[in-house]
Amino acid sequence: MKGIILAGGAGSRLYPLTLVASKQLQPVYDKPMVYYPLTTLIEGGIRDICLISTPQDLPRFRQLLGDGSRFGLTIDYREQAKPEGIAQAFLIAESFIGNDSVALILGDNIFYGGDTFQRAFADFKSGATIFGYHVNDPERYGVVEFDAQGKAVSIEEKPKSPKSNFAVPGLYIYDNEVVCITKALQPSARGELEITAVNVEYLRRGALHVQRLARGFAWLDAGTSSSLHDASAYVQTIEKRAGIKIGCPEEAAFRQGFVSLVQLEDIVGKIPNCEYRAYLEAEVIAEARRLQ
Ligand code: TTP
Repeated sequence: MKGIILAGGAGSRLYPLTLVASKQLQPVYDKPMVYYPLTTLIEGGIRDICLISTPQDLPRFRQLLGDGSRFGLTIDYREQAKPEGIAQAFLIAESFIGNDSVALILGDNIFYGGDTFQRAFADFKSGATIFGYHVNDPERYGVVEFDAQGKAVSIEEKPKSPKSNFAVPGLYIYDNEVVCITKALQPSARGELEITAVNVEYLRRGALHVQRLARGFAWLDAGTSSSLHDASAYVQTIEKRAGIKIGCPEEAAFRQGFVSLVQLEDIVGKIPNCEYRAYLEAEVIAEARRLQ
């Protein structure tokens, strides 16, 4: 399975922060926002990643993540000239996707807790798998309605009167049909190729699986000043309490076996002295050596 991180967009709600760096490069507590979705893909066992962003921001992502080798990945970079919709990612990345299935994650979505995604990636065979998460403001998102048996029966984009409290978070898994489905879409009234329209088409075909995320699971989107601050506070609280890091791609790559202990030691040796390096040395490398 291939992975796409969509990290373009206008980021207008974070103005003036986004005058100089895109939303997904802003700090969420102790690391850039894009580290969190990147880590989610790594934890799902995905090694081939395409990062899509605006022409002005793409060089900064390259500077941050390079060719991906320090995480045991290959990272391709593609431009989205204008924010013409989330589903446009499948057209921009068509040659990258090839004949594979693909997981798309939004660069400003932060997930924490449980192994639902890992299992969803591993179990995926065909069709589409998306998720439902209970929120108090569903009208801001794609909203999925379930029948009494828990089967998805409708999906609507930003409905004025939501039929449920279940929003669709920004992680979507599709088979290769997604490229054809997207090619057949017309832009919506707001001029975008809507990811909800892709999901509606899979639903029409009887090929959409919607998994509800458990209550203990955290889904944060960091698109406004207030939600960005909340996300930082959340990460800080968990990291301080548990002594672990959320969204640490070096650690995830090591735990997935994408990089060996020797490679990790080499990578960490190049990080300047800082709390991030100290964590990797003390909690990841030293622990792994102890267990050898
Ligand atoms: P949004 O938060 O809906 O849009 P935005 O990032 O442009 O922010 P704002 O509304 O404040 O102007 O987008 C959700 C995510 O999807 C975000 O990570 C940006 C990304 N995105 C793209 O990369 N390209 C697009 O065409 C769209 C619509 C979104």
